[in-house]
Amino acid sequence: MGRRWRCSRAAFLLLLAVASSSSSSAEDGPLVNGDFETSPPGGFSSADVQPPSIPGWKTNGTVEVVVSGEKQGGMILIVPQGDRAVRLGNDADIRQDITVERGATYSVTFSAARTCAQLESIDVSVPPASQTVDLQTVYSVRGWDSYAWAFTAAADGCSVVFRNPGMEDDPACGPIIDDVAIKKLFVPDRPKNDAVVNGDFEEGPWMFRNESLGVLLPTNLDVEASSLPGWTVESNRAVRYIDSYHYSVPGGKRAVELLSGKEGIISQMVETKPKRSYRMTFSIGHAADACKQPLAVMAFAGDQAENVHYVPDSNSTFQSADVNFTAKAERTRVAFYSIYYNTRSDDLSSLCGPVVDDVRVQLSRSVGIASPDPVVVLFSLLSVSALLLV
Ligand SMILES: *[C@@H]1O[C@H](CO)[C@@H](O)[C@H](O)[C@H]1NC(C)=O
Ligand SMILES: *[C@@H]1O[C@H](CO)[C@@H](O)[C@H](O)[C@H]1NC(C)=O
Ligand SMILES: *[C@@H]1O[C@H](CO)[C@@H](O)[C@H](O)[C@H]1NC(C)=O
Ligand SMILES: *[C@@H]1O[C@H](CO)[C@@H](O)[C@H](O)[C@H]1NC(C)=O
Repeated sequence: MGRRWRCSRAAFLLLLAVASSSSSSAEDGPLVNGDFETSPPGGFSSADVQPPSIPGWKTNGTVEVVVSGEKQGGMILIVPQGDRAVRLGNDADIRQDITVERGATYSVTFSAARTCAQLESIDVSVPPASQTVDLQTVYSVRGWDSYAWAFTAAADGCSVVFRNPGMEDDPACGPIIDDVAIKKLFVPDRPKNDAVVNGDFEEGPWMFRNESLGVLLPTNLDVEASSLPGWTVESNRAVRYIDSYHYSVPGGKRAVELLSGKEGIISQMVETKPKRSYRMTFSIGHAADACKQPLAVMAFAGDQAENVHYVPDSNSTFQSADVNFTAKAERTRVAFYSIYYNTRSDDLSSLCGPVVDDVRVQLSRSVGIASPDPVVVLFSLLSVSALLLV
């Protein structure tokens, strides 16, 4: 575990050595003690020792290690994974210094649960970049979710900080954080004859192989620092990034599940040539997560919008659909949202929705000047002669 993320001189020298032998930088995966399971040198102390010693992390304010099964006021505290997680009191934070490559974009994946308050949120930052993630909506019945947030590194060394911005009356309230990981993102090359970047959604945030409910991508209007390169989540609710180990995914290993109805919109501005005709094709499917049908998406391409319903087919979990449009400008917006608000039929409360994958925007094959329909010609001739006769 004691890996590269500490910005100590030893780590720095080690990093230099690594850097000189290969060009790859920090590896992707959990932060040091990112699951908060590592015992401090003297063993886990009793809860009233403040501040608690949390290997790998620095704390400020009321930070508490919570143990799975622990109760508070009759309510069992949620520990997303393993035996331990941390809870942040009012205005408290935890941070870990990491080594990154200046100018590169990284995505931080973490699990979070709220405790008592409805309006809890968490500030995740790598100064100067930061975002407040709203924990009000619990998307899954188990009471916690994984989220991803991306930043572009302003320096080679930085800190990942989680802070509770709340000012609750009950200082024992506050979000619970677990399973923190990081991944360096790259922007995939645009495929030949296709205007969409990362249209197959294969490049995205870190996902734990054993994480069965995907990773939520909250609002992110900054396409330069997006956990889903090329795409923005332009609505106030999240969409879910899913993998083929736990879901049905139309192509490759990753896709997006639109689980917030009209409030979960992904979009991309694609390069187009004005006045040219294009065809956007995409897959729409069922994630095989017991999502109650009907499933449908609203697909936008320029000034065209198409309402596409998923038609269940015993032989396939997805179908392809298209939207034809004529570009009006050098850049055209393509976007998707779910028409319905769906929930799982097994627990009736976890949010789910249609899966979108393999989005492509291609120039339509040039069609020759359409020859007029002979029947129409005949009718026109007839009406002209009729007019002449009158
Ligand atoms: C701890 O948090 C308080 C309140 O947010 C802040 O004023 C203080 O500077 C922080 N201390 C450190 C060492 O970050
Ligand atoms: C999931 O995987 C991570 C490492 O990838 C591991 O630390 C964790 O214990 C695993 N969790 C479960 C519930 O198996
Ligand atoms: C599924 O596949 C079988 C065999 O290829 C075919 O007979 C059947 O019509 C297919 N069903 C549908 C709904 O396409
Ligand atoms: C788009 O155009 C293609 C061929 O040009 C056609 O096959 C397809 O049905 C059209 N799609 C829609 C939704 O009109």
